Amino acid sequence: MGEEQGEFLDLFALSVFRQRLAVADQQRRQLAELILDLEKNDKRSRGEEEAWLGDVSGSEFLFSHEAFADLFAAIGVSVRSYVAGLGLDTEQLAFWFQRSWATISHEGERIFEHAHLQSHLSFAYYLQKPTEGGGIYFSVATHPNEFAAGLFTLAKESLGILKTPGPRTLNRIYVEPVEDEILVFPSRTLHSTAPNLTDQPRISISGDIVVTLKDSAGHETLMPPVQRWMAF
Ligand SMILES: [Fe+2]
Repeated sequence: MGEEQGEFLDLFALSVFRQRLAVADQQRRQLAELILDLEKNDKRSRGEEEAWLGDVSGSEFLFSHEAFADLFAAIGVSVRSYVAGLGLDTEQLAFWFQRSWATISHEGERIFEHAHLQSHLSFAYYLQKPTEGGGIYFSVATHPNEFAAGLFTLAKESLGILKTPGPRTLNRIYVEPVEDEILVFPSRTLHSTAPNLTDQPRISISGDIVVTLKDSAGHETLMPPVQRWMAF
């Protein structure tokens, strides 16, 4: 009996979108200065290794700043490309920047694992990213292939049970973005960053997006258009 070799069908992949936005160097430097000024004027203290986060420092609506208008236009195009690339009809959807803020990671600083549970899509744009400035990890709380609790952990890796770790067994996957690149992903995705190993700050613009229907007639799910809501 000659058995044929088996093969994997990898189902339900998480799709993170990456794209260079081609923002001019000079414009990026100017925006970086504005952000470093925001940090300078922030008197809030923060823990060791903890990056500066604009959203909790009163600067969570960067898209309202005139200086960022071009950047957010480019981000908007990128986010629509992501959604269209997934196979959705962006013409039927309305996109809203809900919050957007800067993060600054100085040498040794990083951002601990979290998700953005109040929105639909999130992005990180790398305004200033030294080569060794620290990339981003995406994680899953429950990997679809982890058939026994605790199987896909570092402990099992060092004990040799997890012999060849790879995308089919990793709970956490590292992505190395480059300067001027945006990453777009579902907001509920857990993520964290690696520490900045350089003395140049890593500056990212993060943001959350809400996606609604333009017309909710006939739809049971998805948010109806914001214009039809009523405040009370
Ligand atoms: Fe985040």
